[in-house]
Amino acid sequence: MLSKEQNERLTQVGSGTPMGELLRRYWHPVAATSEFSGKFPLKRRLLGEDLLVYRDGNGNYSAIEPVCAHRRATLEFGCIEKDGIRCPYHGWKYDITGQCVDMPAEPANSTYKAKVKLTAYPGMEMGGLVWLYLGPQPQPLLPRFDLFVWDRCLRDIGQVSLPCNFVQIMENSVDPHHVEWLHGMLGRYMRGGSASDDLFSKHAVKIGFDTFEYGIIKRRLVAGQTEESDSWKIGHPLVFPTMLRVGGGGHNQYQIRVPVDDVTTHLYYYSAYQPLDETIAVPHQDVIPLYEMLLRWPDGSPCMDVTEIQDMLVWITQSPIVDRTLERLVTSDVGLHHLRKLYFSEMEKVEQGLDPLGVVRDPAKNTMIELPQERHTYGAGTEFLRATLLNGQAQFSPLLPEIMAMFGLSNLTTDGQLKQAQRPLTD
Ligand code: FES
Ligand SMILES: [Fe+2]
Repeated sequence: MLSKEQNERLTQVGSGTPMGELLRRYWHPVAATSEFSGKFPLKRRLLGEDLLVYRDGNGNYSAIEPVCAHRRATLEFGCIEKDGIRCPYHGWKYDITGQCVDMPAEPANSTYKAKVKLTAYPGMEMGGLVWLYLGPQPQPLLPRFDLFVWDRCLRDIGQVSLPCNFVQIMENSVDPHHVEWLHGMLGRYMRGGSASDDLFSKHAVKIGFDTFEYGIIKRRLVAGQTEESDSWKIGHPLVFPTMLRVGGGGHNQYQIRVPVDDVTTHLYYYSAYQPLDETIAVPHQDVIPLYEMLLRWPDGSPCMDVTEIQDMLVWITQSPIVDRTLERLVTSDVGLHHLRKLYFSEMEKVEQGLDPLGVVRDPAKNTMIELPQERHTYGAGTEFLRATLLNGQAQFSPLLPEIMAMFGLSNLTTDGQLKQAQRPLTD
């Protein structure tokens, strides 16, 4: 239970708030590179700030405040040039730093443009996503976490926006006990008992959390396992402050929770499929596809039979911002205490002018940052992979047939009506 003030400190993401300032020390993805094919910039909102994101003719990404300094027309229909963006109304041009560099209707000897600057933020591409940094300079490095820079894998990116604060989503990532109920019990209730229901229903007899250089390592021992099992010995990380790494059996995923504002979070499910058997060939991929994840099927029924959507539909019901003055935390919520404590301590570091946990400034450390993740989740190997593909959000991916073929599981799927086609196969 938190006080009202603590809850506000934990959940408000705007500029000048303690959490907002902490989040401004990290890079956040706001788009897939595949979205930059149109004539105009992309409209985005990040940490409570409305922005237009574009790639100039030199290939540089930038985000600029959306309203022209001249007479308040929008740059939403701005023309993108080699070295900046030009307002459609009277042609004022801004470079990627937001500096006005041209006022074409002014006298040639006017120096007024030097006094006009819009707020702009740097952008960078990595792994098919465009990332923004909204914090103070000097900016840290964009951390090259493994899945974003791996060779030899097939990748896809699912996305969905949810009407709730990001912290309740992150709290789910340190709450292993929900798995056996929300995914095991409810999964069985929805699907009548599938292979994945059996996996997820396993009782967690012991859980553990350790802070490490990039976040929190989560460990879990389910009934029948020893402490030599992957899920205890290796575990998987919450990557501070807004990501979770999960997977097993050749599926590896970052779940990225992008705080749009206090009551909206945009999710990217970034998957890298890499067969554990190194002799299996991985097809070449030109573009990493971006696809939409559904909360409801076309007939209006909730996608409560899809593992990740079960989480999302519950997070939303906790209300846009959980009222933590009313909650009753118990022993099994130990992970939430750990995460909240970490958020509060890292906010204090920022207030003291220090870099918070996981900020990377040493290029020597940033060739590729490999994070630990169990390979045989629940000791289930390929069975975990099958459950992921057949009962998880992968069924929304346009890449599913190629992924199944790569793992030699093509016989388990059909084209077209995937939801209906897969149900009997999982019984
Ligand atoms: S409003 Fe943008 S140039 Fe006039
Ligand atoms: Fe979950």
